[in-house]
Amino acid sequence: MPTDFHARIAAELADIDAQGLTKPERVIASRQGPVIEVGGRQVLNFCANNYLGLAGDQRIVDAAKAAADRRGAGTASVRFICGTQDIHKELEAAIAGYLGFEDAILFAAAFDANGGLFEPLFGEEDAIVSDSLNHASIIDGVRLCKAKRYRFANSDMDELESRLKEAREAGARNIVIATDGAFSMDGYIAKLDEIRVLADRYDALIMVDDCHATGFLGPQGRGSFAHHGVKIDFLSGTFGKALGGAMGGFICASAPVVQLLKQRARPYLFSNALAPAVCGASMEAIRIAQGSEGDALRTRLSANAHRYRMAMTDAGFDLLPGEHPIIPVMLGDAKLAQTLAARMLELGVYVIGFSFPVVPRGAARIRTQMSAAHTFEHIDQTVEAFKQAGKELGVI
Ligand SMILES: Cc1ncc(COP(=O)(O)O)c(C=O)c1O
Repeated sequence: MPTDFHARIAAELADIDAQGLTKPERVIASRQGPVIEVGGRQVLNFCANNYLGLAGDQRIVDAAKAAADRRGAGTASVRFICGTQDIHKELEAAIAGYLGFEDAILFAAAFDANGGLFEPLFGEEDAIVSDSLNHASIIDGVRLCKAKRYRFANSDMDELESRLKEAREAGARNIVIATDGAFSMDGYIAKLDEIRVLADRYDALIMVDDCHATGFLGPQGRGSFAHHGVKIDFLSGTFGKALGGAMGGFICASAPVVQLLKQRARPYLFSNALAPAVCGASMEAIRIAQGSEGDALRTRLSANAHRYRMAMTDAGFDLLPGEHPIIPVMLGDAKLAQTLAARMLELGVYVIGFSFPVVPRGAARIRTQMSAAHTFEHIDQTVEAFKQAGKELGVI
């Protein structure tokens, strides 16, 4: 190995640190939940994607245990060799049924779902028109595909229309518009109603990544497309957030699309089947999310988000507008975001500063996230801590 290799890596790490961009990993010694144990202390947790509060729910844990008891730790195989158990077929049917699609295919993660979606379905004759704020996994999935790439500024419908026109004029065979259903760093919800109109006008397909919407946006929590009441062609999602919080991804689509993905999607063909415990946990989460308990959790989540937004705005913080339980507190400077997050932890609230490359340079923030498991008391305590730390650091 060249002798200067480790010196170069160390210099790169030092540079990241000097810019205030190091992302430390704090160790949690409890289940995921509104209150967690960090560094031997109980602290309030406002940065998990635990939207419905199911990640630590005993029923989900019991369902995971029961599935592991029945079907073991895992298949020691990819799906098409000897890795398809009844529980995988049941989960595919459950998620497709819940979200209203013909069929679904499971992946080890939504990252893999997005990585495997485009390449089998689109070739160099086709065009992918992608929102500029799309998740890294969509960007990587699009890169793996030979289709011509077009990009439009976040939710800018005029730019989207211009790109669709360009793609049509360039003679694209199929065009697919790819977007997050809810943008994970900002909490903005994609304008799928307007996207639907443009897709119809330019004969385009629509792909939505609903990782930050499935389970809690729209009727029955079916996601951003249901929130807007529109149909889409491909939906990618995760079991790692609202739907139990374990892990695992999926794509919902028409039956032929799912069949083709099962033949060709590389992260599906060349990676182990989802662990039975994850299937069991996810199935129980779907059962809860789609029923009346899910409605109550969604009502609670929305009330929490509203209360927090109001109180933080009254306190003078700069929040990105919206109605999503992702509520970013904008700070601009990366070091300030880190310092404020560290002070919040001292005050008993676990939040995280986000900076480049996760968000654009100069747009550092603390992304707070509400859960249905938070009480109003948790929210009020957090706002008070933000007020104290914000005053100390000159933010408000
Ligand atoms: C919008 C979006 N898509 C995909 C993913 C990846 O999800 P998973 O953790 O299931 O790979 C995430 C997770 O951060 C996400 O926020």
